[in-house]
Parts: sequence; C-alpha cells; structure tokens
Amino acid sequence: MIHGENIGIIIVAAGSGSRFGSELPKQFCMLGDKPVLIHAIERFQSFLPQAHIIVVVSADRLQFWNDLKQCYQVSGTAETIGGKTRWESVRNAISQLPVSTSRIMVHDGARPLVDAKVIERLLDASDNADGALPVLPMTDSLRMATASDESHAVDRSQFFAVQTPQVFRADKLRKAYTLPYSSIMTDDASVMEAAGFNNIRLCEGSETTLKITRPIDIHIARLHLTETV
Ligand code: C5P
Repeated sequence: MIHGENIGIIIVAAGSGSRFGSELPKQFCMLGDKPVLIHAIERFQSFLPQAHIIVVVSADRLQFWNDLKQCYQVSGTAETIGGKTRWESVRNAISQLPVSTSRIMVHDGARPLVDAKVIERLLDASDNADGALPVLPMTDSLRMATASDESHAVDRSQFFAVQTPQVFRADKLRKAYTLPYSSIMTDDASVMEAAGFNNIRLCEGSETTLKITRPIDIHIARLHLTETV
C-alpha cells in the first residue's frame, strides 16, 4: 500500500511470442537463474510489497505456470486466463482485481527488468492525472511508408518508444476496457485514449526495461541483469 492506496498489478504473459522463434514463449525463457516472468514478479513484489498481483497466462500454459510457481516458490499472486490478443488478456484480469483498487499498473510479462526508479516516476506523474506511461526517445531516424510504395522522413523528436508498466486510475481503466477492441490497442494507454481519457502523462522510461522479443534481447537483458541487481 502506498500512502494508504490499493495498487493492482496486471502482468500479461499469455502471448505465444512468434517473433522469438522458440516453442517456449519468451516470458518463460531463462534469464540468468530464473525465467523472465519470475524476474518481473519478484521485482514488483520487492518494490510494491502490498500490491495485489494478477498474472495472466494462456489456458494451455496454466499447468506449466503452476509448476513454475512451485519451483521458484512464487506466492502472493493470483492467476487468470488470457485471450487471443493482449487487450483481451488485460480485460480478463481487470475484473479479478479487488473493487477497492485505486490505481492499476499493467506490465508485459516479457519485460523482466522492471526498474524501481521508473515505478517511482510513474506514481508521481500519475498523482493528478488519469495515468502515466514510460517512454524513451527515438534514436534511429524515422520514415513513414506511403500507400504508393514510397516513404518520407518524419521528425523523430515528435515520437517516443512506449514501455510498460503503465499506470492508470482503476475506475477509468475499467471503463475504457468495456469499449470495443481495435487493432491499434497494443498497449493500455491507447485503450484509455480511445475512451477519451487523455490526461495521461509521459515519464522517462529505462533502457533496462526492454521487452524480450527477438532471441538477441535475452543476451542484452543478461548484460543489464548484472547492472540492475
Ligand atoms: O506480443 P507482444 O510482445 O506485444 O506482447 C506483450 C505482452 O503481452 C507479452 O508479455 C505477452 O505475453 C502478452 N500477451 C498476452 N496475451 C496475448 C498476447 C500477448 O498476455 N494474447
């Protein structure tokens, strides 16, 4: 509990991770001595020990997840079953959080190295807002593809890469997730925005909070692991 507040954390881990190229979804791959998802859970439990955590897994991985929990002695989390899209997975979990939850944090289970400083920045930034999300500036030049197989340069200073965890007022996030799905909803800020909740603050993200997507990412995360423990 932070200043008497109930925080709910949803960790989505029901994806199949086709870009990772392994049969085992990326959130269950080993990073050092434990799976990616276990790192994320342990970090949240250490930074926000009173928070209520829901882990979303696919139906066909539920038994596997229960075995992992036993193996790594994970306690204090609840589970729910995910859906075909990330949006559906988050929606399924929202209804499992206690009604007393005031802010909900949503995190990709494929991002193992949750950073305490980012969580602090998010909670501060969202204090008087609908929510907050961590972003990083773009480092590559950017181009936008046009319909005619051409492209044009865009000003990269106007764009950010978006990370998780993202945090939102629970009542507003619950309402936003009652609206229909659209393919642009690859994160939770986009769901809030579609519902008209635009008072969402950006705060500085962290290079260490990378999402494991391609095989090389696990090697990069391994390097960060030694810096962040
Ligand atoms: O596929 P992507 O990398 O964008 O997935 C981000 C997070 O959402 C991952 O942790 C993944 O397990 C989760 N996810 C989910 N349910 C889905 C698809 C993705 O929980 N149907």
